[in-house]
Amino acid sequence: MGDDIPPISQLVHATPAQLLRLKEAQHAVSKADCVLVALRSLDELYLGFSVSQLTHSLQTAARAEAAGADPELVVGALCHDIARVLPVGSHAVLAANLLRPHVRPEVYHVIRAHWHFELRYTATFVEGDTADARKRFRHRPWHDLAARFADEWDQASFDLGYDTPPLSHFEGRVREVFGRYRNMADPAWKQWLRPPYRQMRHVLGF
Ligand SMILES: [Fe+2]
Repeated sequence: MGDDIPPISQLVHATPAQLLRLKEAQHAVSKADCVLVALRSLDELYLGFSVSQLTHSLQTAARAEAAGADPELVVGALCHDIARVLPVGSHAVLAANLLRPHVRPEVYHVIRAHWHFELRYTATFVEGDTADARKRFRHRPWHDLAARFADEWDQASFDLGYDTPPLSHFEGRVREVFGRYRNMADPAWKQWLRPPYRQMRHVLGF
């Protein structure tokens, strides 16, 4: 530990010096560090696919990168399934909320809606008529990008033959994107929440 302060065994017995060191250690861990840990944990998760969820995420991000996507979109692609490790509610909504303070609105919405766009391919395994779920977003300004995300990058990224880059390939962009906070009062955010979209929120569960 580099000092003579013993580690905390029970919080109830922690000394001021131990608590101060704990706080310093916690401040030293960035959001990007936590995201990278969560991404690494996806390598334990296969969910019935031939590649792990980490490999799937890396391939999705690599395809976005190859298509010329900017760092926010590449990191969005990398993190779009990060919440699969904690299956509580919608994994797409959780990932979008993780990204929201750090990306522009269209990236947030693409990640938030990606599950609806994927239903074109998975709806036979889902109860109800949901194959055309993406249609509800056809007037959204991010619709075409979300369709490209689903059709060209996400659904294709379970490929055992793909030359998958390691997570370290994206680490710099993860630290860049999660290391800055976009201004949520920016008019660019408000324009995405104009009335027609707000009216749909109760239907879509947003
Ligand atoms: Fe995915």
